Amino acid sequence: AALPPFDLVIFGGTGDLAMRKLLPALFHRYLDGQIVEGSRIVAIARDARSDDEYRVRVREALAKVVAEEPRGIEVLDGFLALLSYRRLDLGDDAGWPDFAAELTVEDRVRVFYLAVGPDLFAVVADRLHAHGLIGQHTRVVVEKPLGHDGRSANAINDALGRVFDETQIYRIDHYLGKETVQNLTALRFGNALFEPLWKAEHIDHVQITAAETVGVEGRAAYYDRSGALRDMVQNHLLQLLCLVAMEPPASLSADDIRDAKLKVLRALRPITADNAAQLTVRGQYRAGAAEGRAVPGYAEELGSSSETETFVALKAEVRNWRWAGVPFYLRTGKRLPERSSEIVVTFRQVPHSIFDDGEGSVRLAPNKLVLRLQPDEGVTLWLMNKVPGPGGLRLRHVPMDLSFAEAFGGRQADAYERLLGDVVRGNQMLFMRRDEVEAAWQWIDPIRAAWQAAHEAPKPYTAGTWGPSAAVALIERDGRTWHEEG
Ligand code: BG6
Repeated sequence: AALPPFDLVIFGGTGDLAMRKLLPALFHRYLDGQIVEGSRIVAIARDARSDDEYRVRVREALAKVVAEEPRGIEVLDGFLALLSYRRLDLGDDAGWPDFAAELTVEDRVRVFYLAVGPDLFAVVADRLHAHGLIGQHTRVVVEKPLGHDGRSANAINDALGRVFDETQIYRIDHYLGKETVQNLTALRFGNALFEPLWKAEHIDHVQITAAETVGVEGRAAYYDRSGALRDMVQNHLLQLLCLVAMEPPASLSADDIRDAKLKVLRALRPITADNAAQLTVRGQYRAGAAEGRAVPGYAEELGSSSETETFVALKAEVRNWRWAGVPFYLRTGKRLPERSSEIVVTFRQVPHSIFDDGEGSVRLAPNKLVLRLQPDEGVTLWLMNKVPGPGGLRLRHVPMDLSFAEAFGGRQADAYERLLGDVVRGNQMLFMRRDEVEAAWQWIDPIRAAWQAAHEAPKPYTAGTWGPSAAVALIERDGRTWHEEG
């Protein structure tokens, strides 16, 4: 269904996020007829630039996306006509009154997207307030990193909370907008098959991997202050863990879902100086090969040595009745052998094998439910099957595969398409509430503190490998292995 007409103001309108994610997402929604004429998209940045110059830039940024769509070229001009550009200095009131006058002409949904650094969130919020730009139908979207630690996250949340109501604040975690992530909720609660088994009694362990082949890609300045724990674990991986582990919510209302996730975060077993060495591994890539070519190490890319981790593996535990004793192994890194993100739920072995011929030749492998987030979104259920043939009873672990592309065809919408639509519609279900973000930091901060206290450099790994060998040891110590396709 079409969205109501809206005004979307993007602070950081010429930045990487706007060009690579937000504008392509908006273009796709426009192409599908969801964005109606009269809606306005205003890009804000510091430099002087005319509307037309901005549109030329967006046209270039969208070239590939447009070319991939049969009607792309045809509708591009219509989309560009929705865009305008405004130069504003966040440190100065000049230009703001005009901007405010332009926006307040109609009473409609107004979204401020803060695609700028977190140090500017409070500054923008204050200006918006001072110029009377925050009305009843106004919403604000903030990107991660939402702070650097619990304390800075609180400060940001306080600043936003001074001028916005919590129901107006949309904290994006784009992983929640991914199709397969939403499908996890659909699978768990739309089928009778899984939920009765979804507990320690039947599940041996869970693995969550987000592997990337890219290095730090021109974001070294941000990344070096962040590291993989803050960049990926604090938000994306913990959110996935929450969706796997949460109790069935009463409904899909934003607060039912977020209450359920919050309980998981609060039940995580703390990782501190006492156990961090056993439960966590941090790594940093050295020169190697990735994406089919030789690539430099992290320190070379950065131009100086650094203690920042580009890889993390850790073992988490949710301390409640449902999950007692079930490890959640989390792993993420840059410059790994492939881009692949997945959640693997491994069930327990059958209690007794009737196939045992005394020679141990029939090994039963446990059932696994694999949710592939990317690439090739889909779901695979690994089952034991008889190998056909008249000989003896031979069994093999085979995948029952549901590929989204095959089952549903067409293009998979990008997470931002769904999420931007939700902001305009006023649906906070896939956005993080303040207490969730804070609970996530409360679990992350002691891990970082433990690493700092240990004074240990991240373990090196060669670019194009699955991280330091300690990450393999982390799971193999428990008699388990990282899931590999095939
Ligand atoms: C971002 C991180 O949040 O997620 C990046 O800051 C990372 O470092 C990206 O590359 C991964 O997102 P996706 O959707 O490509 O898995």
